[in-house]
Amino acid sequence: MNTFRDFYNNEVKLTFEDHYFSKEPKHVWVICRYNNKWLLTRHKDRGMEFPGGKVEEGETAQQAAVREVKEETGGVINWIVYVGQYYVAGKGGTVIKNVYYAIVNELVDQPTYFETHGPVLLEKVPDNVRHNAKFSFIMKDDVLTHCMKKIKKIYSTE
Ligand code: GTP
Repeated sequence: MNTFRDFYNNEVKLTFEDHYFSKEPKHVWVICRYNNKWLLTRHKDRGMEFPGGKVEEGETAQQAAVREVKEETGGVINWIVYVGQYYVAGKGGTVIKNVYYAIVNELVDQPTYFETHGPVLLEKVPDNVRHNAKFSFIMKDDVLTHCMKKIKKIYSTE
């Protein structure tokens, strides 16, 4: 278990065990790869982040992951794997989020990207995202660093 503070000083716990905090988490976050680049979305308020969001009624968490990536980036997922799960003790309540790693094989133009400006492709996620106002707060804690490390180790990306 990895315990740390997020950008807003909320406590975060991250585990790579299988659905440790909840079998049915309400949130998902998807670290995406397309054409040997990282695929993010540009959230209208928060800035650049990997896509994600809330699990809807009647949907599994993995189905929500596939839907959110499509909605926020136009990305069609070819392959997806569960990476881990984290818990945030936020001011407005607790959040439990599944993290996935996904390979996208097609980017389809969308009529709307919902609350985002759509896809962003990055050769590299900069080391200094924490001090870069263009990136979202959800990219600014150890969830990103630990998950990227794990993904790079297992799947030899970059
Ligand atoms: P809406 O209900 O859509 O308005 O969203 P919300 O921001 O009110 O609620 P949500 O349940 O998405 O998140 C509640 C709080 O949890 C946020 O204000 C954040 O403090 C925190 N939170 C949510 N997702 C993350 C995340 O991925 N990382 C971190 N560190 N905190 C998060």
